[in-house]
Formats: sequence, C-alpha cells, structure tokens
Amino acid sequence: MISPSESTPLADLDEWEDDLLLRYPEEKPKDEFRDYDAETRPGVREFYRLNHRYQTLDFVRKKRAEYLPLTKRRMTVWEALEYLNTLVDDSDPDIELPQIEHLLQTAEAIRADGHPRWFILTGLIHDLGKILCLFDEPQWAVVGDTFPVGCQFSDKIVFHEFFADNPDSGTAAYSTPGGIYEEGCGLDHVIMSWGHDEYLYHVVKDKLPDPALYMIRYHSFYPAHKEGAYDHLMNDHDREMFDWVRKFNPYDLYTKSTERVDVEALRPFYDELINEFLPGKLSW
Ligand SMILES: [Fe+2]
Ligand SMILES: [Fe+2]
Repeated sequence: MISPSESTPLADLDEWEDDLLLRYPEEKPKDEFRDYDAETRPGVREFYRLNHRYQTLDFVRKKRAEYLPLTKRRMTVWEALEYLNTLVDDSDPDIELPQIEHLLQTAEAIRADGHPRWFILTGLIHDLGKILCLFDEPQWAVVGDTFPVGCQFSDKIVFHEFFADNPDSGTAAYSTPGGIYEEGCGLDHVIMSWGHDEYLYHVVKDKLPDPALYMIRYHSFYPAHKEGAYDHLMNDHDREMFDWVRKFNPYDLYTKSTERVDVEALRPFYDELINEFLPGKLSW
C-alpha cells in the first residue's frame, strides 16, 4: 500500500517543472560544475524515489485499463481547463500561477512566434492530463520525466539510482535494453510510465495532426528528447516527429512569467481555436 504522505512529496505539481529549470536552464550557467543533486529540493528527490520505485509495467497496465476507456467524465476543453484550475496552489501566491495561466502563456508564446493554429492549441492543452491529480492519483503518477517500462531503465533518467528499488529491475525479461520490445519497433508499441502526457494523448488522438500528438504524448520524455536515450526503440517516423517535440519544449519550460494573463480577453480567440479542432464535449 502507498501511504497518503507518499502521494504528495511535492509542495505542488509545479515543483517538478521548477526543478526541470534547474536541470535544463534556459541559459547555460557560467559555472560548469553546478551540482544538480545538491541543488535539488528534498521533496523533488523524494518524488523521484517514489516515481522510480512504483512505475512498473504492471502498475502502468492497471492505470491504462482504468483510464483509457475514457469513461471518467465528459467535458469540453474549456471545462477541463477550469477543472484543472481548481488545483490552485496556495503555497506561494506571488510566484505560482494557476495552471490555466501556464497553459495560456505557453500557447501565447507559440502564437507570437507565428506557428500554425494546431501548434497554438497544443500549447493550450498540453497539461490537461494533470486532472489525474483530481482523480486522486499520487503526484508521481501524474508528473515527472517519463520513460518506457518493460525494458531496462536508461541511466540517462534523472535519479537513475532509485530504480534499484523498482521490482522490474529484478525481472530478467524487463532488464535488457529492448526488454519486451523489438528493436526499432516504434514508440507507439512501447508502454510509457503513467502520467499526464499519455492520458491526454488518448483523449485527443485522431483529432490533431501527428506532430501535435507527439508533443502531447512525449513532452515529459526528457530521457529521449533531451538526453537521446531509447533511440533503439524508435523508428524513423518517431525520430522525425521528435524534432517537433524538441521544438515544443522551450515553450513549455521557458514561458512561465509572473505577469498575469487576461483570461477573459483571450477567451474568444481560444474558443474559436478549440471549436476548430476539438469541438464539444470530449471523453476523459
Ligand atoms: Fe506537462
Ligand atoms: Fe507544461
């Protein structure tokens, strides 16, 4: 059993993303010898310890069976945004922004750079899968870097050493580089650790262009898009699409601002955008 304290080591979900900025700063720090481990907050370390301990192939299969029939809710995109916004964090009201603002800031930055409308929409919705938290999922099953399960955990995954406590590390069939997968099988055949990326992908698949679906499904797959791991599981289409995942990443990481977003002023533009690609109520 997982105790309640084990479900919330982070002060809030954004603490994981703040930590990503430590690992992947926008500007390379002058001091090349920065010690990431020493700078990482204890809650983040504990978060990864739990994530790496509990994300097993068996756990992911259970979560997929529970969520992927998409029978939890019927909500429009804007209803999901408002629902996610009830996850407001009160630990640091001056800095932490409601989730809706992170999504609008991401989308607005993509829009300002003149990207296609589906790309802007991707920015707006990419974290909606975090509503998993409101279904009482522990933080380590909602956010965090994602990685394949059912094969060897790459040493490129942050806090790789914590995988020693994952039962799959002691399972021979899951411990080779390919594990249960065939080399070059393509990521669509690979089961990823459970979290907000995979969940939202299933809500919107078939409704958005392929690059958008890759951005949504793999935006937290830092071991691959930032560290180059797991190439042996990819096919050429994955490699091509990961250029888009990498194009998306800076908008996700580096657009957080304390400047408030005027949600009501932006609403008409985004209502029209949502209507164009994802009209009406979606199954969640
Ligand atoms: Fe995300
Ligand atoms: Fe995000």
